[in-house]
Amino acid sequence: MTNSQRRPLIAGNWKMHKTIAESVALARAVAETRIGPRTDVVVAPVFTALAAVSKALEGSAVGLSAQNLYWEAQGAFTGELSAAMLLDAGCKYVIIGHSERRQFFAETDATVAKKSRAALSSGLVPIICVGETLSEREAGITFEVIGRQLDAALAVIEERELGSVVIAYEPVWAIGTGKTAKSSDAQLAHAYLRDRIRNRVGPAADLVRILYGGSVKADNAAELLAQPDIDGALVGGASLDADAFGRIIRAAG
Ligand code: PGA
Repeated sequence: MTNSQRRPLIAGNWKMHKTIAESVALARAVAETRIGPRTDVVVAPVFTALAAVSKALEGSAVGLSAQNLYWEAQGAFTGELSAAMLLDAGCKYVIIGHSERRQFFAETDATVAKKSRAALSSGLVPIICVGETLSEREAGITFEVIGRQLDAALAVIEERELGSVVIAYEPVWAIGTGKTAKSSDAQLAHAYLRDRIRNRVGPAADLVRILYGGSVKADNAAELLAQPDIDGALVGGASLDADAFGRIIRAAG
């Protein structure tokens, strides 16, 4: 990335992995990694580990993210957690609309919008995921799909909030498959997303960080992060290992 307005962000999505003790140990190891002065690092453990990981990260440069939230503040919503509860557990970020949630938990553009609004209203930074499936890519509708997903979120975001919004472009076919998008293809998608934001809000589009996700590893991170519109990475598998994640962090500068 070249735009000095945007700090690179490397986020580790631990998905449904690790006990509380394992999460604390991994968070401590990430906190000991050398992090460049211009790089932001975030980890997203399971809900049960958030409070313990928050404590373990106190005083470190590593931020805490949840993997999901519900948009209501409180009430009879069995099994759900609100933005205020995530803040209470120490979160600064929350991943919203990950493709696994869209695929397995019936998330839609409409619920992603509600969740994004709830996060921003509470002061959490939403990491809003968009991405096309393999069949959508093969059908040549990648930009249509990610454009629609992006628009749904942008519709509920004020221009002044854009500096606190993170978009993650994650081609579904690249997640957990070892198949990364070519850096030039990823750049095309990122530039498309930024242009689409720019068409809506003008130059404030340059404030939005757009992360790439999908089989990011230590050996492909540098090339992806060198693209002008790739402002960081959302890392799944490789974030479960402190050494591998540390190498990705260092690739960001
Ligand atoms: P992966 O996952 O790095 O294991 O492909 C990325 C993600 O789902 O955020």
